[in-house]
Amino acid sequence: MLSVVVLISGSGSNLRALLEATDSPLFPARILAVGADNPAPGLAHAELFDVPTFVVSPSAFESREAWGKTLLESVDFFKPDLVVLAGFMKILPPHFVQALNGRLINTHPSLLPAYPGAHAVRDALAAGATETGVTVHLVDEGVDTGARIAQRSLAVQAGESEGELHERIKVIERELLVSVVRDIAEGRLNLNQIS
Ligand code: GAR
Repeated sequence: MLSVVVLISGSGSNLRALLEATDSPLFPARILAVGADNPAPGLAHAELFDVPTFVVSPSAFESREAWGKTLLESVDFFKPDLVVLAGFMKILPPHFVQALNGRLINTHPSLLPAYPGAHAVRDALAAGATETGVTVHLVDEGVDTGARIAQRSLAVQAGESEGELHERIKVIERELLVSVVRDIAEGRLNLNQIS
C-alpha cells in the first residue's frame, strides 16, 4: 500500500479527488496527512475524511530555508512513500526537494514545458493557445521543470475565461492525478526510471 502526503494551498479539488479514490479499499494508496502553507479552505476535505492536517506558513519563519526545514519535518513525521503537490503554490527550497528526490510530484495546469509558473491558464490564454492541458511531473529544483510523468490535452474554446478554462482543465487533471498515483502504487510507473 503506497502511503501519500498531499500538500495544498487552495481549494483542494485535486486533493478531494485523491481522498475519494483512496477511500476505497480497492485503491492501492492511502493518504496519511495533508499539509498546507496557509489555513487553506481545502484542508476541510481532509478533515471530512478524518485525515490529519498541518499548516506551516512561511510568514512564521525568518527564511525560506527555515520554513522548508519545518515543512520537511512535518512531512517526514508521516514517513510517506510519495508526496503530492496538488495546487501547492509556494516554491520549495532546494534542500526540501533534494530530501524527497524521486518521490515528490506536482500537478500543473498546462502542457509543460509551456506556461510554467503560477499563472499557467492565464498565460496560455494570453498567448492565444488553441490547446492546453495538464502535466503531472517530478519536482526538481526549478519551477515546473522536472521530468514529465503524464500529460493530457484539451482544446481551448473561443471566448472562454481563465476561470472557465481552468475548471475544464481541473476535470481532466483530477482524473490524471488519481491515475498516476494508482500507477505508481501498482508499480506500473517507476519514478526512478523517469527522465
Ligand atoms: C490546479 O489546477 C493545479 O494544477 C494548480 O492549482 C490548481 C489547484 O486546484 N497548480 C499550479 O498552478 C502550480 N503551479 P485545486 O486547489 O482545486 O486542486
